[in-house]
Amino acid sequence: NWSMDDFIDDAIENIKEEVGDKRVLLGLSGGVDSSVVAVLLHRAIGDQLISVFVDHGLLRKNEAQQVLHTLGDEFGLNIDFVDASDEFLSQLKGVTDPEKKRKIIGKDFVDTFSKEARKFKDVDFLAQGTLYTDVIESGTDTAQTIKSHHNVGGLPKDLKFKLIEPLNKLFKDEVREIGEKLGMPDEMVWRQPFPGPGLAIRIIGDVTPERLKKVRDSDAILRDEFKKAGLDKKVWQYFTALPGIRTVGVMGDERTYDEAINIRAVNSVDGMTAEFAEIPWDVLSKVSSRIVDEVTGINRVLYDITGKPPATIEYQ
Ligand code: XMP
Repeated sequence: NWSMDDFIDDAIENIKEEVGDKRVLLGLSGGVDSSVVAVLLHRAIGDQLISVFVDHGLLRKNEAQQVLHTLGDEFGLNIDFVDASDEFLSQLKGVTDPEKKRKIIGKDFVDTFSKEARKFKDVDFLAQGTLYTDVIESGTDTAQTIKSHHNVGGLPKDLKFKLIEPLNKLFKDEVREIGEKLGMPDEMVWRQPFPGPGLAIRIIGDVTPERLKKVRDSDAILRDEFKKAGLDKKVWQYFTALPGIRTVGVMGDERTYDEAINIRAVNSVDGMTAEFAEIPWDVLSKVSSRIVDEVTGINRVLYDITGKPPATIEYQ
């Protein structure tokens, strides 16, 4: 539709004018908002945009590679990829309290981003994928907590940037429309929500490499089967989570004492409330047998049938 085309042309003109010959830094998360901003800015100023992509090691299977491939190889963005997984994992070692986990990840994220930002000279601007809803909600505590990880708001004082927020008058559906107009792939434009702290908040208790692998591999199986069944376009958000319980099982002649995994699938409009999604038994059955067959250390698969409220969508 013509108004979104106009929006793109105007935004590009404005960005060019404002940025001049300076450089712009952007924190890329792989999410819809930051990806659309990145592609929009790249259209306007090309390599004057530096997209910093911090991999905290808590992303889904192949997620980092996909972002690098799509935005780096296909769209030609200049991406500064920082693999900080070891650092994040060692900081999280032994931490079981949910809020502590979030705080550590948030702080680590800002630290890593700031350290990276200092490497680049002549950077005057920081671009962010702030939406209209973020602007109007930013007074409330929930929005602050939810967004605090993503928009690197708490940067150290000496890092002074002028903000560029080209999407701050738009709603999510408009941002998706712009993404489509910019030729971005469906997987990126229609990506389901994914929390900033990543898989860590889907693991009750300790975040160890072994447990991370359990949640990551089972999530990949769930997503694969949802895609095959066409549910990926119908269900708002779906993932697996480790509730942190071990139960007795049998495998061959052996007794096992392994972890259970939960399937979480919900429908929602904005994440504030949600209903559990009704997944066909054959899909659940396929997911279940694949998970116990393919993922080491899982001997039981559970299906979460709770809405929000009283539960939350995530587990921590
Ligand atoms: P809850 O678990 O609060 O989640 O019902 C509601 C929606 O928000 C997402 N979520 C987050 N997103 N950073 C984010 O960017 C976060 O820290 C965070 N915590 C929850 C969650 O995935 C769901 O879509």
